[in-house]
Amino acid sequence: MTDTRTDGTDSLPPGPSGLPLVGSTVALLRDPWGFMNTAIEYGDVVSYTAFGRQFVAVGDPDVVERVLVAENDAFEKGGFQQAFGELIAPEGVVFTEGERWRRQRQLLQSAFTPREIQSYADEMVTETAALADTWADGDVIELRETTSTLTLRILTRTLFDLDFDAERGAIVRDAVRALSDYIGNYATLMLVPSWVPTPSKRRYERAMGELDTLVDELVAERRNAAETPTDLLSMLAAAEYPDGEQMSPGEVRDQLVTFLFAGHETTATALTFAVWLLAGDDEAQARLTREAESVCGESLSFTDLPELEFTEAVAREALRLYPPLTDLFREPTEATTLGGYRVPADATVLLSAYRCHRHEEYWDTPETFRPERWLPEIRGGDQDRPEYAYFPFGGGPRHCLGMRFAMTELKLTLATLAGRLTFDRVTEKLDLSPFGLTLDPGPVEVHVRKP
Ligand code: HEM
Repeated sequence: MTDTRTDGTDSLPPGPSGLPLVGSTVALLRDPWGFMNTAIEYGDVVSYTAFGRQFVAVGDPDVVERVLVAENDAFEKGGFQQAFGELIAPEGVVFTEGERWRRQRQLLQSAFTPREIQSYADEMVTETAALADTWADGDVIELRETTSTLTLRILTRTLFDLDFDAERGAIVRDAVRALSDYIGNYATLMLVPSWVPTPSKRRYERAMGELDTLVDELVAERRNAAETPTDLLSMLAAAEYPDGEQMSPGEVRDQLVTFLFAGHETTATALTFAVWLLAGDDEAQARLTREAESVCGESLSFTDLPELEFTEAVAREALRLYPPLTDLFREPTEATTLGGYRVPADATVLLSAYRCHRHEEYWDTPETFRPERWLPEIRGGDQDRPEYAYFPFGGGPRHCLGMRFAMTELKLTLATLAGRLTFDRVTEKLDLSPFGLTLDPGPVEVHVRKP
């Protein structure tokens, strides 16, 4: 590997130059974590080429803040993500830009206010408790699969007010599974042109066709009903832009698919890591149980949330060590500089949450699971840390729209589980892959222990 180390302000950031033509594609695919460790040695703003693109990877919180907040207008999500948008939901708020995005974001925000989230909290607790009640002492469960089903059950209820096990719920379930199979692997998607009719693409198109029909029916039903349920679909079907226009069924469908896409695996991944981390830490688990029991006894509700301090600390710490979206991608609208280096207009800027969250400059014992670091009394001593040393939900105007929903869900599910059972690790070591839609831990098994 040749070295492109430089300190000139008009040159690209330093970084591994890789092989002729393919750049670092092969090294990245073969050993992504090894590649990352090599790249880090070049600094906190690093460049390399892969998949035929120029990447600039950022692990400096101040540069992250510049891109996401201070100069967010100078960066777009760009072609790298637009390609996903075109495949799954071109009108979805995750993928739109400019005025179109601003209009949608404003409208959709009304579906994620604390009052709305409160109405979803009971579903989150009920679904989690029902799941925990199906387990017996000594059962071995696989967390990825289990949490994926749980968060999808919760979304099916809160987005569509549908029963996961009924016929219409199954349409949502099949569409999401087909979506995950189809675009579940970044690397494959980058290498296979979208017009190639793979079996997973055909399955996805069929399942999405059924979901489109279902959403059309549901929007019509909600718009004609005298009394509507409090699900997200009803809110979107009724919502109006400032000029009085309503979303078309196609647009409602794209937003719902976007929420399924953005809110399902992310939350499941966060839960998987949180439970696995707890399963390896008896003390944290005991403290979580004590909190769950003292705060809520048997039945948890939205009003208990502020008291679930340690539960929140566990969720935050799991999101620090294993951010479900390890990297955010942006493209500058024109050539610019970052960290003193040139960044060409067509470069993909990769903001690495994974790197910032474990950066030894900003965290004590960065590799250790230590939920206490998030407790208010300890956090007080933390003021020197740059804000963007931690950004599991992104930042600036395009920060996660579902953040409140997700944190509510994480806290309620963890506390509901902790009030009923504990976990022991079966899988001692994770086989992490960054190439899934979210950070993929590989299969993760735990034992269930019931009192
Ligand atoms: C632990 C769970 C979650 C994590 C870690 C997470 C993370 C993120 C991040 C990092 C972004 C910013 C992406 C970027 O700037 O490129 C984002 C955006 C977004 N998230 Fe989440 N998310 C989670 C759950 C959810 C849920 C439950 C929903 C909806 C029900 C949701 C809906 C969205 C939407 C709509 C956007 C796009 C916002 C925009 O571009 O204006 N997310 N999420």
